Amino acid sequence: SPTPASLLTIFGASGDLAQRMLLPSLYGLHRDGLLPPTLRILGTARSEFDDDAFRTSVADSIERFVPAADRDDAMVRGLLERVHYVPATLGDEASFATLGARVAELRNGGDVVYHLSTAPRFYGDICRGLGALQLAGAGTRVMLEKPIGHSLASANAINDSVAAVFDESRIFRVDHYLGKEGVQNLLALRFGNAMFEPLWNARHIQQVQITVAETVGVEGRGDYYDDYGAMRDMLQNHLLQLLCLVAMEPPSHFDPTAVRNEKIKVLRSLRPIGRNEVAAETVSGQYTAGAIDGQAVPGYLDELGRKSRTETFVAIRAQVDNWRWAGVPFYLRTGKRMPRRSTEIYLQLRQVPHSIFGVAPQPNALVIRLQPDERIELQLMSKTPGLDRSGLQLSPVELDLDMHEEFANVRRRLAYERLYLDAIEGNGTLFVRRDETESAWQWVDAIEEGWRAAGMAPKAYPAGTWGPSAAVTLTDRNGHGWRE
Ligand code: BG6
Repeated sequence: SPTPASLLTIFGASGDLAQRMLLPSLYGLHRDGLLPPTLRILGTARSEFDDDAFRTSVADSIERFVPAADRDDAMVRGLLERVHYVPATLGDEASFATLGARVAELRNGGDVVYHLSTAPRFYGDICRGLGALQLAGAGTRVMLEKPIGHSLASANAINDSVAAVFDESRIFRVDHYLGKEGVQNLLALRFGNAMFEPLWNARHIQQVQITVAETVGVEGRGDYYDDYGAMRDMLQNHLLQLLCLVAMEPPSHFDPTAVRNEKIKVLRSLRPIGRNEVAAETVSGQYTAGAIDGQAVPGYLDELGRKSRTETFVAIRAQVDNWRWAGVPFYLRTGKRMPRRSTEIYLQLRQVPHSIFGVAPQPNALVIRLQPDERIELQLMSKTPGLDRSGLQLSPVELDLDMHEEFANVRRRLAYERLYLDAIEGNGTLFVRRDETESAWQWVDAIEEGWRAAGMAPKAYPAGTWGPSAAVTLTDRNGHGWRE
């Protein structure tokens, strides 16, 4: 089994993700003594920084993106002592050789994690470069950021070029949703309790909804986003990963092989949606000008500054064709410029088989809220207190567990803290295996292809609404409604 890395090398170390998430996460780990004591961090990018200039920019990221209450000067200095920088430009062999020499020196005979946080089209060249310098053999691992590809074919090309240098057991594909506390808690809830699993199937559950709603627009990332859209940016990865965790069979162990073997079975059970089904089973949308929280916001095309048919919203009625889930719709939806930021999983149970009270009670439901708060709600029916003459009256009530309150003294972690710790220790359970990305792309490609063949364009929805009205029809057909 792998030994903890002695060097973490971040490609794209001056980028936006590094500043907002990666460096603050490393700070959090360092502050709490969770990094191996000898771990060094080497940043690299094209920018011509030296160690000191890069350290200043790291300090600046921490200042901007770590809440003041969590900052401690001595701890920041301690982190900076671990940090180094070397500029490198792809295709410039001399600069790559300098990078290589720095890696060899700083790893000091130990394991290395390379984190590629650049545009994915560079992954192949970076890996080839490392391979050529004999820096990609045993004891090295590579973390890859999404989006790996744009379709199955382009994902294969990238995966193949990485695989030419790193074998699969040393490749850690990041889906940062798997690093989120609430997402892992879904596993704890399902497999750490006896009361849910017997109900967790088509006999007892009538519908599942997975919503990832954001209020933000494309935030200056228009050029990237317009090539991908909601389907490739969010649904292909984050929503399908959530679906896997909800739908999978219990793995026999919490380890990389057992967990990922169960997830891939779910992805392979997804009923294909193609040209003949897209109109009935999917809805895509693009936001126009509107308002969020009373603030006027421009439409997608105005933000982008050109015409585009890219979707900023997608809703799908998916089916998992296996014994456990036959006939249960899994409604997936994600969009930008929704009225509220909200990530949640909603499982609605079936009606009681017979109502003794005259009126039919509302079905029970379990809601797992991941963002912005973390809570677990169980919707039940109870007796309305009182002496009503017309008989016993029922009211819907909620058992509501607020995880932040329950664990008030436990520090909340960034997703990348978990992911870095696991990659440094060589544990791939919360990373995505190649067959998972391939299966996900295959399913998504068929829908994209179906949209094209059927000439389906995204429907307009005003910013600050829950997507085009067609999204409502998608659930209405089964007598279900989106939970709002
Ligand atoms: C990223 C997407 O993967 O996830 C972004 O590229 C999106 O478009 C982001 O905004 C959402 O992540 P989170 O953690 O804020 O839910």
